[in-house]
Amino acid sequence: MTTLPLDPARIRAEFPSFRQPDLADFAYFENAGGSYTSAQVLNRMRDFYWNHKVQPYEFNGPSRAAARAMDDSYRRLAQAMNVAADWIHFGPSTSANTYTLARAFESWLRPADAIIVTNQDHEANSGVWRKLASRGIEIREWQVDKQTGHLDLAALDKLLDSKVRLLCMPHVSNVVGEINPVAEAVKKAKAFGAVSIVDGVSYAPHGLPDVLALGCDIYLFSAYKVYGPHQGIMAVRPSLASELPNQSHFFNETAREKRLNPAGPDHAQIAAAAGIVDYLEKVAEIAGTAIQGAGPFRIAHNAMRAQEVALLAPLLDYLRKKNGIRLLGPDDPVKRAPTVAIVTDRPAAHVAGMLARHNIGVGGGHFYAYRLLEAMGVNPAHGALRLSFVHYTTPEEVERLIKALDAEL
Ligand SMILES: Cc1ncc(COP(=O)(O)O)c(C=O)c1O
Repeated sequence: MTTLPLDPARIRAEFPSFRQPDLADFAYFENAGGSYTSAQVLNRMRDFYWNHKVQPYEFNGPSRAAARAMDDSYRRLAQAMNVAADWIHFGPSTSANTYTLARAFESWLRPADAIIVTNQDHEANSGVWRKLASRGIEIREWQVDKQTGHLDLAALDKLLDSKVRLLCMPHVSNVVGEINPVAEAVKKAKAFGAVSIVDGVSYAPHGLPDVLALGCDIYLFSAYKVYGPHQGIMAVRPSLASELPNQSHFFNETAREKRLNPAGPDHAQIAAAAGIVDYLEKVAEIAGTAIQGAGPFRIAHNAMRAQEVALLAPLLDYLRKKNGIRLLGPDDPVKRAPTVAIVTDRPAAHVAGMLARHNIGVGGGHFYAYRLLEAMGVNPAHGALRLSFVHYTTPEEVERLIKALDAEL
C-alpha cells in the first residue's frame, strides 16, 4: 500500500466511537448507510443542549446565543462548499428535502415541460420527480449501461432539448460508486436552460465538493453520513430558491431558511452541523503539507480522496481476481468512491450475516437503488453485498475484510 496521507490513529482519535468497548474490534463497512459522528459535532450538540436549549431568534441573551450557534452552521457549511451562506438549507433528511423540492417544482414547472432522471439514483432523487408525470410533466430517463452501471454523457446529449427544465442526477451512486462527471453534465443541461439537482449523498462523505465549481443549482447531502447529525443539507442557488413557491406556513414567505423546510428547524442539530466543518479543518491539519489544495476544505477533500484511493486499491485488486462474484461499477479506485457493491451466488443478506460472525459489518440488499439493480440484471430481492468505507478505515480493517471474504465466498 502507498503511504497514507492521513495518519489513521490521529484521524480515529477524533471519533469517540473508536474508544467504545462495544465497538472495539468491530470493522465497520456500512458507512454508506451512516458514518460515525465526529467529536466536534458531538461537542457542539452537547453545548447546544446544555447551554442554549431555549427558543432561538428571540430578544433575550440566551436566545441570541442559541441563534448564533445555528447561524454559525450556515456560514461554516457554506465556506466548506464554496458558496455564500444564503445557499444553505436544512431539512430532516435528503428524502424529505427532495420530497419538498418536488412539491415546490410542481408549481414551477408547466405541463409539457420535461425532466431528466436517471436509473442510477437512490430512489430519493428519482421517485419524487417521476411522480410529476401525473401533472403532465414528461419524464425522460438517462439510463445506465446494463453491464457497468456507467452513465454516459453521450446518452444525456440525446435526451436534452429546450423542453427540459430539470436534470436530476447523482454525484455518485450508492451502489455503483462511480464518480459521475457532474460539472460536464450540468454544463450541458445549462446550455438548454435546465436547472440541475445533484444528489451528493454518496459523494459528500468522501470530501465536501466545491459546489460553485460543479455549477449545479441544487446540491444535496445527508449530514449523518458525513460525520454529523441526522439532517439533510441542501445548497440551493439563492435566485432559484426565491423563485420556488414557499413550502412553509404562508407567513414564512420571506423567511429564507424556512421556505423549503415545512418540518421546521431542528435547532440543536443545525447548530451541531458546524462541527462537520470543524472536523474537516482538523483533517486538513492532520494532512499537513503532504496534500495540496486551495484552503483547508480543498485540502481535506483531496486528503480524504487520496487516503481512500490507497485503501481501496487492495480490495479492488482482490475482487478483480476473485471468481464467482460480480463487481458493480469500475475496478479503478480513482474512478470511484469506496462504496463497493458485489453480487454473490448466495443472497446478499445471507453473506452479510456470515461476515457478521467475523465481527465485520457490511450491508446486503438493494439500498433503495432498486431501479439500478433491476437495470443491471440483479434481482433486488437477492440484492448486492455492499462494502463501504471512508478515510477513517484502516489498512488492517481492509485486510481483515479481504480475508473474511476469501474464507466465506
Ligand atoms: C445516494 C443516496 N441518496 C439519497 C439518500 C437518502 O438520504 P436520507 O437517508 O437522508 O433520506 C441516500 C440514503 O441512503 C443515499 O444513499
